[in-house]
Amino acid sequence: MLACVSALFAFSLRGATCGNCHPREAARFAASPMARSIGPPQPLPQGRVEHALSRAVITSESHGQQMIHRISESGLIAEYSIAYQIGSGRRGRTYAVRIGDYLEESPISWYDGHGWDVSPGFESLKLLDADRPITSTCLFCHAGQSKFADEDGRRLDPAVPVSGIGCDRCHGPGDEHARHPTRSNIVNPTRLSGARRDSICEQCHLEGDVRVVNPGKREQDFRPGELLEKTIVPYLLRRAGQQRPAVSQVEELAESQCARASGGRLWCGTCHQAHGEAVDRKRQIREICLSCHASLTKQSHPTMDADCVACHMPRRSTSNIAHVSVTDHRIQRPGSAAPETGGASDTIVPWRRPDPQVEQRDLALAELQMGYQQKLPEMLKDAVRLLESLPGAQQSNDPDVLANLEVVYLEASAPEKALALAQWAAEADPRSAAFALNIGIACIRAGRAKDAEQQLKRAIDLDPSLMQAYAELAVLYDRQQRTAEAKETLQRFLRWNPQSIQFRLALKQ
Ligand code: HEC
Ligand code: HEC
Ligand code: HEC
Ligand code: HEC
Ligand code: HEC
Ligand code: HEC
Ligand code: HEC
Repeated sequence: MLACVSALFAFSLRGATCGNCHPREAARFAASPMARSIGPPQPLPQGRVEHALSRAVITSESHGQQMIHRISESGLIAEYSIAYQIGSGRRGRTYAVRIGDYLEESPISWYDGHGWDVSPGFESLKLLDADRPITSTCLFCHAGQSKFADEDGRRLDPAVPVSGIGCDRCHGPGDEHARHPTRSNIVNPTRLSGARRDSICEQCHLEGDVRVVNPGKREQDFRPGELLEKTIVPYLLRRAGQQRPAVSQVEELAESQCARASGGRLWCGTCHQAHGEAVDRKRQIREICLSCHASLTKQSHPTMDADCVACHMPRRSTSNIAHVSVTDHRIQRPGSAAPETGGASDTIVPWRRPDPQVEQRDLALAELQMGYQQKLPEMLKDAVRLLESLPGAQQSNDPDVLANLEVVYLEASAPEKALALAQWAAEADPRSAAFALNIGIACIRAGRAKDAEQQLKRAIDLDPSLMQAYAELAVLYDRQQRTAEAKETLQRFLRWNPQSIQFRLALKQ
């Protein structure tokens, strides 16, 4: 009997979630923008967007809880039911279509104060469709989703529901705490200090110009209480002779006199309640400012009850851009001088230096990504130099290094060299569709059609959403006059996503 009762008790404890014992925190957080940063689409007014370059017309309609985005283009119509909105809507929302266990981004977004328009990054495309992958990177910052069923962070694990940011992102894993609650088996950010405390907010609020994930890690391996750079290293680009506009609250706050002169006491949590902000924000912020600035000059502050934020943290007019701070977190004297300009050459610097063992590798990958993105030949050259001078063992055990070097060699028309690296990368990570695709492309360039065919098919088996693999394979067949197989390849993609405008057009040709 006793055993029976204790078994029951153990079961109920195992089933206990954070909210059972912390209902107040859980309820407040559930209503906050961070908890609602992804979810089913909320109804919005009808929309119609014309995209000049592709001549596509995209409409949005809400029917109760259902939202439909329809794309009319080149005489075809694609119709997508929206699975999720990303963004609680303070500034805007981007929409995700779910095809099997994969998420693709809709070409239109909702912008607060403006309405429907083309999604960021889709402006310059010649053909619009819901065909931009939403990856684990997006979901790492916007969802509680931390488990993916594939190597590349593309396929959702059907057993894990897609929901907003969870308690564990800021408090760490809590199973042991839920069974035996003490203060020592759960992280309270306010009990940490300095960079370990700041890392918790930085994991999502400091995107940087490029982020590098350390070898053998995934973003979600970051645990509250650790330093961010143990897992993820954000890099900032400083262009020669140009001012670097701070784009995140993290960078701006670090520039402020308040943070610099208060010995690490001021952090995000001083002014923000992660569980949902207080109702009377103005008064609350004023009290926070005055806790450090008890006396102010009468000259500039004739009344002491004024709104400190209005003059010292003004709002900017970039309210439509999802990832740029709108409230100036530099906390300046009004009309202060602009920030310093960059040095003599373009450089890229880590937010904080990572472990010496990964420093050269991380910098190289950051430079490579930035160099391609911004077309900076000097930076690219340096990246290749750094990558090539990594110790052999460090190279050969690191699929990301191998895959990046491979791209460099492909660009430099050295396909055999590239192929060797691609094979190495795929051996180290045999379940990665991206690496299989890489080998396929290297094989094509090296004139090995048979191997290319096999690798591209493998890539598609591993990831049926990988458009480029189908496209490369169809072109390969086409060149060999294997028209039926080329068509079948396009049809195979259309079995996966029958709406695809691009593949339907290709099939018609
Ligand atoms: C069975 C009840 C129970 C569950 C379930 C539970 N907690 Fe707690 N939690 C407590 C108790 C009791 C304390 C206070 C412990 C103390 O003061 O020694 C606490 C304290 C905390 C603290 C404060 C720690 C500090 O240093 O101040 C945090 C944060 C916390 N819990 C978060 C969570 C999260 C997140 C979850 C879900 C993973 C969770 N709790 C699940 C009972 C629970
Ligand atoms: C797992 C990623 C993640 C972490 C960790 C995180 N944030 Fe956020 N935060 C977001 C996202 C995403 C949004 C945008 C939510 C939306 O509106 O969709 C956001 C929005 C906010 C906002 C604006 C909305 C509001 O609540 O007023 C504040 C303030 C904020 N976060 C503060 C913090 C602080 C402070 C920390 C650290 C204690 C933190 N965040 C940690 C992802 C994160
Ligand atoms: C490095 C973390 C990070 C990544 C990656 C990221 N976001 Fe965000 N996103 C944020 C944070 C933090 C905010 C809130 C910023 C603020 O309010 O200043 C935000 C805001 C947004 C908003 C506006 C939310 C609102 O309530 O108005 C949208 C929409 C959005 N993100 C979409 C996306 C999409 C789509 C992707 C993937 C392609 C993505 N984000 C990738 C962290 C991230
Ligand atoms: C975005 C980061 C973030 C998320 C997500 C988050 N918290 Fe917290 N939590 C904090 C911070 C920061 C503190 C300390 C400051 C405070 O008390 O507001 C805190 C404090 C707490 C405390 C201690 C409160 C006290 O009075 O000492 C509990 C309990 C807690 N959180 C539970 C939860 C639960 C349960 C969830 C999920 C439903 C959750 N938190 C989600 C950041 C977060
Ligand atoms: C944790 C303590 C702390 C908090 C909170 C704080 N400050 Fe400061 N702030 C300082 C310190 C220290 C300095 C530098 C010495 C000084 O000027 O008093 C400073 C400097 C300033 C300056 C002068 C900046 C310059 O470039 O010369 C302004 C303006 C300012 N604070 C406004 C604010 C406002 C407005 C708030 C609230 C939104 C605030 N501070 C909150 C500690 C703080
Ligand atoms: C000195 C007080 C203060 C500190 C410290 C502070 N913030 Fe803010 N933050 C504000 C104010 C004031 C706003 C305006 C909206 C509001 O009142 O919540 C704001 C707005 C935001 C927003 C909403 C988007 C925007 O730019 O308006 C985000 C996200 C945010 N802060 C994140 C952070 C993060 C991350 C940190 C830590 C690096 C941080 N804040 C530190 C005062 C502060
Ligand atoms: C109407 C605009 C305005 C408001 C509102 C305002 N300030 Fe200021 N503040 C200024 C100006 C202008 C200066 C620069 C004075 C100078 O350089 O001599 C200044 C300077 C400061 C300084 C640095 C000089 C000093 O007196 O220590 C601090 C700190 C400061 N403000 C804090 C605050 C706080 C806290 C609040 C809210 C209670 C606030 N300010 C409200 C305009 C304002």
